[in-house]
Amino acid sequence: MPIINRVAELAEEVAEWRRDFHQHPELLYDVHRTAARVAELLKSFGCDEVVTGIGQTGVVGVINGRQPGSRAIGLRADMDALPIQEIRDHAYKSTVPGKMHACGHDGHTAMLLGAARYLTETRNFAGKAVVIFQPAEEGGAGGKAMVDDGMMDRFGVHEVYGMHNMPGLPVGHITTRPGPIMAASNSFEIRLKGLGGHAAKPHICVDPIVGGAQIVTALQSIVARNIDPIDNAVISITRFHAGTTANNIIPQTAVIGGTVRSLREETRHFLKKRFTEVVHGIAAAMGLEVELDYEWGYPVVVNHADQTEFAAEIARGVVGPDKVTTNMEPSLGGEDFAYMLEARPGAFIFIGNGDSAGLHHPEYDFDDSVIPHGVSYWAKLVETAMPAA
Ligand code: NI
Repeated sequence: MPIINRVAELAEEVAEWRRDFHQHPELLYDVHRTAARVAELLKSFGCDEVVTGIGQTGVVGVINGRQPGSRAIGLRADMDALPIQEIRDHAYKSTVPGKMHACGHDGHTAMLLGAARYLTETRNFAGKAVVIFQPAEEGGAGGKAMVDDGMMDRFGVHEVYGMHNMPGLPVGHITTRPGPIMAASNSFEIRLKGLGGHAAKPHICVDPIVGGAQIVTALQSIVARNIDPIDNAVISITRFHAGTTANNIIPQTAVIGGTVRSLREETRHFLKKRFTEVVHGIAAAMGLEVELDYEWGYPVVVNHADQTEFAAEIARGVVGPDKVTTNMEPSLGGEDFAYMLEARPGAFIFIGNGDSAGLHHPEYDFDDSVIPHGVSYWAKLVETAMPAA
């Protein structure tokens, strides 16, 4: 049971929707055009219910199978783009300066629309398929906003499934793993205040650069010395701002920012505690005043074992057993599908995007040859989870 014939016929139309989304990227919750187009298409397919404005700009479509059933399966795609200037010059390149679909959410949205089109035509299942289009995956917790808006209860969702493309994995391949698959991501900003002055008189200054540099170095020892080597965590300092253009001034302040990621909630809490101790301890030793903002981001994406095996079985049916693995290395990237998996059992899978530029790269593009695989996976998942008699 490979690609569904009807899905193969729909692939070019799905690719056209995808390229239209690609030309009109929108950020975070500001996905009004995309959400309106999604809702319009769902209605044109004959979805039994189309609800907009869930989690601000999220859209949910409900498709009843040809037989009633006790279950409802949620399928989720994300709609938002990124604040990146696209540098490739293809026919459907972004028309919005400084914004582009550099994570393939245009492809995710189009594939789920393709599945909705197929499922409304065929309705070869018993129960409800709930297609979920979320805003603000890229740092805005749009998935959480939809869950907080009561989406799971309102549509009676029993299980929920997510999919992301993966550059570097060949097209037609699918990978996943049970348990933690993507990291909890927290971010921080450290604001240091010393005493500025002349570079020739450091003894009457309190230098936030030397103290800040010691904080940067000491923070690296947390993962190296306090975390079990078998566990996974990373602390990356991504910005350090101090001083002006002058070389003879010790500045008054410094600001340091970055991200802290881990694959277990216990590790996540431990990292915050240890991080805070190190920052305050070094700052005190160096005579610096310090303010620390430690922001709690997306939780760990934890795949449920039974649903992951079910998803892998569907994937094997679509792309072939030799092209599906269930032992991928977890990624330290973040993904707010985590909130949906906290609310309901389910599984997140990665589908190969072939030899493309990496996610969030200005040359990235979703590969339209992925479409038949992704749409068939969604369709078969619904038909198999809720079989019609
Ligand atoms: Ni993404």
